[in-house]
Formats: sequence, C-alpha cells, structure tokens
Amino acid sequence: MSVLQIERLVKHYSDAEDLVRAVDGVDLSVQAGEVLALYGPSGSGKTTLLLLAAGLLIADHGRVRFMGRDLGEMSAGELAAYQRSEVGFIYQSAHLIGGVPAVENAAVKLLVDGVKLSVAREVAAGWLARVGLEHRLDHTPDRLSGGERARVAIARALVNEPRLILADEPTGSLDSHRGLEVLHLLSQIAREREAAVVLVTHDPQAAHVADRVLALRDGMLAEPVQGLAPGVPGGVPSLGLSQE
Ligand SMILES: Nc1ncnc2c1ncn2[C@@H]1O[C@H](COP(=O)(O)OP(=O)(O)OP(=O)(O)O)[C@@H](O)[C@H]1O
Ligand SMILES: [Mg+2]
Repeated sequence: MSVLQIERLVKHYSDAEDLVRAVDGVDLSVQAGEVLALYGPSGSGKTTLLLLAAGLLIADHGRVRFMGRDLGEMSAGELAAYQRSEVGFIYQSAHLIGGVPAVENAAVKLLVDGVKLSVAREVAAGWLARVGLEHRLDHTPDRLSGGERARVAIARALVNEPRLILADEPTGSLDSHRGLEVLHLLSQIAREREAAVVLVTHDPQAAHVADRVLALRDGMLAEPVQGLAPGVPGGVPSLGLSQE
C-alpha cells in the first residue's frame, strides 16, 4: 500500500485579477521506503502540494490518502493527530521557537505528546547529533546560524519517526557538504524506518539519493526525468531550475 496517494488534486488561488493554478490535477503515490525528489521552478506549486499532502491546506478537488485513509474524511482531531504523529514537515523556513534551546525546539512534538522532558531532550539530542549539531544543544535560535536553524528544524521534523516526511527545500540554506549529509540522512531514514519521503528541492545532489525524480511545472507533474538514474552522476535535469 502507498503511504501517500494523491489523486487528481487541484488547488487554485484567485484574487480580483487572476486565477493561479497552483496545483492543477496532480496524481502521485509514494511507497514506504521511497524517496521522491520533486523539482520545479519557483512558483510551480511545490510548497502548495506539500501543504495539501500534510492536510494543512484544503484542496478544491481531488483526494489525499495516507495509508489508504482519505484526509478529507478525517475529523479535526484525527487530522491534527496525522499532522503531529505521522507527518514530519520540514518547512521552507525554519520557524523555530524564539528563546528556546535547540534541543527543546527539536523535542517539541515529543513534549506535546507528553514525553518526559529529560527523555524528550535525550531523544532530540540524538537527532541533533545526526544533523551535526551535538555542540549546539543549548543554543537558542538567535545564537544559531541560518544553516544550523535549518538543521534544528530537520531534527524537529524527524524526532518522532514519522512515516511520511515532507521536506520543502531542506538543503536550501546549507553548503553542499551539509546538504549532502541531510540528503543521505533522509534516504537512510526512508530505508531504515520504511518512511516515505517527498523532497522538494533545487539541489542537483538530491537526484542522486532519490529513487524517483519528477518535475512540477505550472502545478502539473511531468514524467520521470530521463537519463537520471538514482545514484548515477548525471548532472542536473534540464528543468529550468531557478537557483535561489
Ligand atoms: N496563499 C496564496 N494566495 C495566492 N496565491 C498563492 C498563495 N500561495 C501560493 N500562491 C501562488 O501559487 C503558486 C505556487 O506557489 P508555491 O508556493 O506552491 O510555489 P513553489 O513551487 O513552492 O515556489 P518556490 O520554489 O518559490 O518556493 C505561485 O504562483 C504563488 O504565487
Ligand atoms: Mg516553495
């Protein structure tokens, strides 16, 4: 069974002037243990698609299923539990809690679930070590670099071992060495814990850890990129990537 299944998903935004077809009829499924890399130019609908998959946005048409269950049929409480326990969302910007040490930022989902502070800190510290931040546990966000904040946010998303990881440009603020470490961590988690990973990215390195590469353009998915077998150095797919 697919962990995530998206069927004919549509999300349009409208204002007085025009209609933006942010997501325009997407079909997609991601299996346990699979890493899907999703490329696409700025404004092509990548973040919107992840927010829909997380149930943080409501689609105009179509369905999102997690382990076969339609998010649209979940109660508010079930949806909140899905978002907290099953989804690890790595946002495009870190959104850490100001004044709170890195280790407690990373532990927040465990704390919400009632895990004892000392245990939650220990688990979160382990995840911070996996993103190379074992020496920054008690730094508050204002004492972390942008890349360090991004890595705390990654640890926070993974801390309770979600089955679905939705990562919105997780390597966007990292140098290529740290970026590659994060990509390997995500693919390792997919293999070890049978998590499904959707990796939105502009990072050419991501293609090498992904099992599948798709392109999003104007809210629509394109076929898998040819000539870019996983793990085989082949350069960046020619998708008009906007480098930020
Ligand atoms: N809340 C909103 N209201 C109106 N339009 C929106 C809203 N959010 C996104 N859009 C529009 O929807 C389209 C898709 O946006 P989205 O953020 O999904 O793109 P993206 O692929 O993540 O881009 P980027 O690579 O820059 O992060 C864009 O044209 C954007 O301007
Ligand atoms: Mg985006």
